Amino acid sequence: MRIVTFATLVVANAAEVTNHPVLDYRSMNRLHRWLCKSDYWKTTLADEILPWALKGIDLGENVLEVGPGPGLTTDILRQEVPRMTSIEIDPRLARSLKQRLDGTNVTVVEGDATRMPFQDGSFTSAVSFTMLHHVPSAALQDRLIREVFRVLRPGAAFVGTDSIWSRMFQLMHLFDTMVVVDPESFGARLEGVGFVDVAIRRSERSFKFRARHP
Ligand SMILES: C[S@@+](CC[C@H](N)C(=O)[O-])C[C@H]1O[C@@H](n2cnc3c(N)ncnc32)[C@H](O)[C@@H]1O
Repeated sequence: MRIVTFATLVVANAAEVTNHPVLDYRSMNRLHRWLCKSDYWKTTLADEILPWALKGIDLGENVLEVGPGPGLTTDILRQEVPRMTSIEIDPRLARSLKQRLDGTNVTVVEGDATRMPFQDGSFTSAVSFTMLHHVPSAALQDRLIREVFRVLRPGAAFVGTDSIWSRMFQLMHLFDTMVVVDPESFGARLEGVGFVDVAIRRSERSFKFRARHP
């Protein structure tokens, strides 16, 4: 039975994995999606990651969030700002977040942050938490940060976090998208699309970045 299960995982194509009870493949596997809405992650975001990433940052009155997933980051941020727009590529996650936050100060848009349906200079800041490694190539990640640059107003901040490679991190991404962002070169990539005042800070398992539209 165990061998059959293992073989199923190894030889399964994407469609078969989609129907697998454990590894329902989209950009995040089922374990990963469970973690992203867990109490553990909620507490980690509220007590550690968001205060660390946002310390001293003025988000302004109209914030763009890229990749909200189930929306734990959205729930925290929306209490701090007048208005937010969260763009999520996964249709099921986008639909359920849209329903849950209907009538609040958050507009949820189902869409791809590498091609955003927003006008130039729309937002006073942009955030992205633990999502860049889900964008499936460095070229698409660069396209995403170029798009963020385009939709920000002059002076607006772009801040966020992402994870640093570890064996556990790799294991968690079995059958889902993981193109780890190297913190050493990410600053130059942000500057490459036009951001200024770029700063990158590493911790043990993740890094944070901040940059400003000139
Ligand atoms: C690991 S989750 C992070 C969720 C949340 N920000 C947090 O920190 O808990 C990453 C999310 O980014 C979304 N995502 C990946 N690529 C995207 C893209 N191109 N545009 C918008 N969302 C994307 C994924 O579908 C997923 O829901």
